[in-house]
Amino acid sequence: MKVARVCLWLHALSTFAMLAGAFDPITTTVVFGVGAVLSRTIYNYLRESCNPKWISFNVTGLQEDLSTRLFGQHLASHIIAKAVSGFMNNANPKKPLVLSLHGWTGTGKNFASALIAESIYKEGMDSQFVHVFTAELHFPHAGQMDAYKTQLQQWIKGNVSSCDRSMFIFDEMDKMHPGLIDSIKPYLDYYDKVDGVSYRKAIFIFLSNAGGESIVQTTLDFWKAGRSREEIELKDVETSLALSVFNNKRSGLWHTSLIDKNLVDFFVPFLPLEYKHVVQCAMAAMSAQGLEPDAAVADKVAADLLYFPKAERVFSVKGCKTIDSKWEYYV
Ligand SMILES: *[C@@H]1O[C@H](CO)[C@@H](O)[C@H](O)[C@H]1NC(C)=O
Ligand SMILES: *[C@@H]1O[C@H](CO)[C@@H](O)[C@H](O)[C@H]1NC(C)=O
Repeated sequence: MKVARVCLWLHALSTFAMLAGAFDPITTTVVFGVGAVLSRTIYNYLRESCNPKWISFNVTGLQEDLSTRLFGQHLASHIIAKAVSGFMNNANPKKPLVLSLHGWTGTGKNFASALIAESIYKEGMDSQFVHVFTAELHFPHAGQMDAYKTQLQQWIKGNVSSCDRSMFIFDEMDKMHPGLIDSIKPYLDYYDKVDGVSYRKAIFIFLSNAGGESIVQTTLDFWKAGRSREEIELKDVETSLALSVFNNKRSGLWHTSLIDKNLVDFFVPFLPLEYKHVVQCAMAAMSAQGLEPDAAVADKVAADLLYFPKAERVFSVKGCKTIDSKWEYYV
């Protein structure tokens, strides 16, 4: 946006100079030429490119964002910070970083991916090096799976060829055709190069609801036992998560093949969110709009959501989803 405006402005300026100098063809040519060169230089300077000016990892920023902006996810915050810093600080990784984010809807999987992108790319999710794929949007017709496979492979290859620090986010992984996942497996592996391209500096993030029920169950068990959710450790959810993912017919297929080959580096569980987290989300949504957060409004927003299990009403059914748009009705 900014770049386009500056360039437009420069073009306008050189056109103006050209008109002003219309009586003197030499001056006109010089002014126009200088204007064109200048605008190209500035354009190249301002345009996002695959270099450290645009891509550099900010570990403090990531840690700070995870602890202050991602609510109720102590496990996910910890694993993501560790995984991403370890990977980004390694000048010579042996394989691309592959994260699999699991959890109920609205628990912050997309948001966490955005925080990762923001900590690496100056342009965050708007970066041309960050690619998001959704089954329904990009690969809707099961009948065209062969064409999709070829296309996806070409996209990944093309993008990594032009920038090795590329990031690929696969949303709603549960809905992806297993064949499609199979087609990208070579890129996730410990190969030095695939067809002359090295994928070792790329990041792949898979988002899914798979295993969500078992994460909810563990969190509920802790709650019922009167234990704090911050006491939940990875080992408490890992086994049941793996089991439920394996046993789920739809997600089982892709996960099994990815797990079997150890292509996924980290499983990241997202816990179901409680009332107090929804309040935090609403407060944050107001701040993001430049407003003074209003606790009474946030309370009303949270109070109007549905919670489960029915008797105890502990966890928000939709987590913090739609909070960004909803709080406005309560002001
Ligand atoms: C890294 O993030 C911190 C915290 O958000 C911020 O204060 C700092 O300016 C960032 N550093 C760079 C180089 O962007
Ligand atoms: C990069 O990926 C995008 C999809 O996110 C695709 O439209 C584009 O053509 C790819 N670029 C290359 C060079 O393959």
